[in-house]
Amino acid sequence: MTPEPDAIVVRGLEKRFGSFRAVKAIDLTVRRGEIYGFIGANGAGKSTTIKMLCGLLPPDGGRALVDGIDVAADPESVKRRIGYMCQKFALYGDLTAAENIDFFGGVYGLDEDRLKSRREELFSILDLSNASGTRADELPRGFQQRLALACAVVHQPAVVFLDEPTAGVDPVQRRAFWDLIDSFSAAGTTVFVTTHFLDEAEYCRRIAFIAEGRIAAEDTPAGLKTLLSGRAMYEVRMDDPAGSLPAVRALPGVLAAALFGVTLHVAIDAAADSGTLFGRLPGLAGFEPIPPTLEDVFLHIAGKPS
Ligand SMILES: Nc1ncnc2c1ncn2[C@@H]1O[C@H](COP(=O)(O)OP(=O)(O)OP(=O)(O)O)[C@@H](O)[C@H]1O
Ligand SMILES: [Mg+2]
Repeated sequence: MTPEPDAIVVRGLEKRFGSFRAVKAIDLTVRRGEIYGFIGANGAGKSTTIKMLCGLLPPDGGRALVDGIDVAADPESVKRRIGYMCQKFALYGDLTAAENIDFFGGVYGLDEDRLKSRREELFSILDLSNASGTRADELPRGFQQRLALACAVVHQPAVVFLDEPTAGVDPVQRRAFWDLIDSFSAAGTTVFVTTHFLDEAEYCRRIAFIAEGRIAAEDTPAGLKTLLSGRAMYEVRMDDPAGSLPAVRALPGVLAAALFGVTLHVAIDAAADSGTLFGRLPGLAGFEPIPPTLEDVFLHIAGKPS
């Protein structure tokens, strides 16, 4: 049997909770070895989609193939072929790091020799060797997330689903975590990942933005930024950034404005003269052009009526 050319194929996938449509007929395709980012606000439908793709939640419509297997027809086969790191803490807190790995490896049917070599390999790659004998609930958050990743990939799945793997992890460890995700992808594993951090989404090969259960846009990070063509982005410094937002938004030629830390990110019509436009603002401390970020794209898409 020839393997499916694509790792994940989703057509018209639908999930309802009572009369509420949490996932609305979504379509997507993830290629083998790809890092595919699934990005959206709280409640957008990310975890619900992942649970359907992992064979944990039956879909109410449409079809999804994961590693060539239909998730609705054969969820048990899907579960054996994939790794899943769920959004909530899912380790056994009263087991040590090593015992957690051994438990998950056992569930996936790894024999003792294989389990030992995988444990040593993963603990070395994930820098967990010193934590081997520590109870999972006593590990720092960054270690817990790395251990959860190790448990999700112990059986070398073809496809791994990571639901907010870097939530609660500091920026340095987040960067290191993405290096690991990269190395899995380089070794041929397909990675389907959600995150709230849009700077991290830049590391994905392709991204789908999901809003209220629908895919609002899907492309490479660079491709998504072209959605902002016709606009020029500026960082604007104001004496009172938050208080000045209404005045900035009211300027003719301003298409969008949002608070970014202590500055504003402002999108203006590319044809407008920035000096004349911002010169009208009382309390202006300075402004300069900036390249658009995925956060700008996300705000642009999220601001559009569906
Ligand atoms: N078992 C359930 N019963 C009823 N409603 C649910 C259930 N699971 C999820 N929902 C609802 O479906 C919507 C999508 O939830 P989901 O957990 O998929 O969002 P999410 O994008 O993962 O959000 P977050 O970023 O907060 O993790 C939400 O409105 C949520 O309240
Ligand atoms: Mg979620």
